[in-house]
Amino acid sequence: MGLIKDCIKKGITKSNAVWFMRQAGRYLPEFRKIRSKNKDFIKLCLNEKLSAEITLQPLRRYKLDASIIFSDILLVPMALGQDVRFKKDYGPILGDLDKEINVKKNDFLEKLKPVYKSIKKVRQSKLSTKKDLIGFVGAPWTLLVYMLNKKSPKRKINSKDFNDNKLTSILVANLEKFLKIHIEQQIKNGATVIQIFDSWAGLVRPCELEKYVYNPTLNIVRFVKKLNVPVICFPKGIKNYKIYCQKVKPDAISIDYRTNPKDIVRDIKIPVQGGMDPKILLTDKETVQKEAKKYLDIFKDHPYIFNLGHGILPKTDPKILDYLIKTVKNY
Ligand code: CP3
Repeated sequence: MGLIKDCIKKGITKSNAVWFMRQAGRYLPEFRKIRSKNKDFIKLCLNEKLSAEITLQPLRRYKLDASIIFSDILLVPMALGQDVRFKKDYGPILGDLDKEINVKKNDFLEKLKPVYKSIKKVRQSKLSTKKDLIGFVGAPWTLLVYMLNKKSPKRKINSKDFNDNKLTSILVANLEKFLKIHIEQQIKNGATVIQIFDSWAGLVRPCELEKYVYNPTLNIVRFVKKLNVPVICFPKGIKNYKIYCQKVKPDAISIDYRTNPKDIVRDIKIPVQGGMDPKILLTDKETVQKEAKKYLDIFKDHPYIFNLGHGILPKTDPKILDYLIKTVKNY
């Protein structure tokens, strides 16, 4: 469909392709306006009209190559029956977990229907003609972390919750099954690329990487590949991206801001995305240009999609993002 898909499928170099994680979000005044009238974040994600509108907001402002559907990885635990809320200045709070997960496919899909309708709306918009539309899921491990820990592990992680091997195995198997269902519907409704966010991959003990990260993510990657849609993995904080790519076999790999891009370009053959620290956007034009050029130079002979090493921060000035996009496009 668009440049992102092409860059991944055909392995084109010098594509100057660009999009951003959290490109629709709190740094945009037009988002904050809608958000201030919609205090319940989950309800906002499930409002197909507003979620489509929010998805398109950055495309009105900037020359981006893709939109990413305005939704959240925690809608999956919600659709599996766990209560999910977002508290201002705190983050997500999850409710008690019914360990059985007796959810039927149709009930799960019914709860997430607005997401698929929103994708369809975005797909039909003139603004996204010829552009990619990125659908996404959280990786099984990252969702397991939220489901058991019931809040961001940034605050505190109760490692005891992860000792019940039988329970974690059942949960991972269920997540794998329902994530595939969720991905398939996103594609059916117009998503042209899938990204798997494993935001807490860095927390897994090395001896448990196979069980929690490599195996379940590989199964999902294989599923997406069978649907003939490129899949990007973002295993934030993983120590060894090379081994991750060998094990999980994504079509493209998104790197975090702590990873040295020079090691990546030397070690990894598949298309690469991202890397630049989102905090750079809180500095000045000169620094932004210098840092962006650093990544573009390193990956000049490698299939590369410009993005950041994590989401855009809420304090980012929308004007500096415009400057960054122009820097990438004029490179
Ligand atoms: O990238 C995009 O623009 C698409 C939409 C998107 C959101 N969340 C919207 C959102 C995507 C792809 C996500 C993914 C997501 N959600 C991740 C993986 C990426 C990452 O950040 O590591 C995670 C871990 C979550 C769970 C989540 N959602 C947390 C921890 C929070 C609270 C932290 C925060 O930034 O406030 C959210 C809330 C959230 N998801 C917001 C947005 C725009 C902010 C909501 C607000 O307006 O208050």
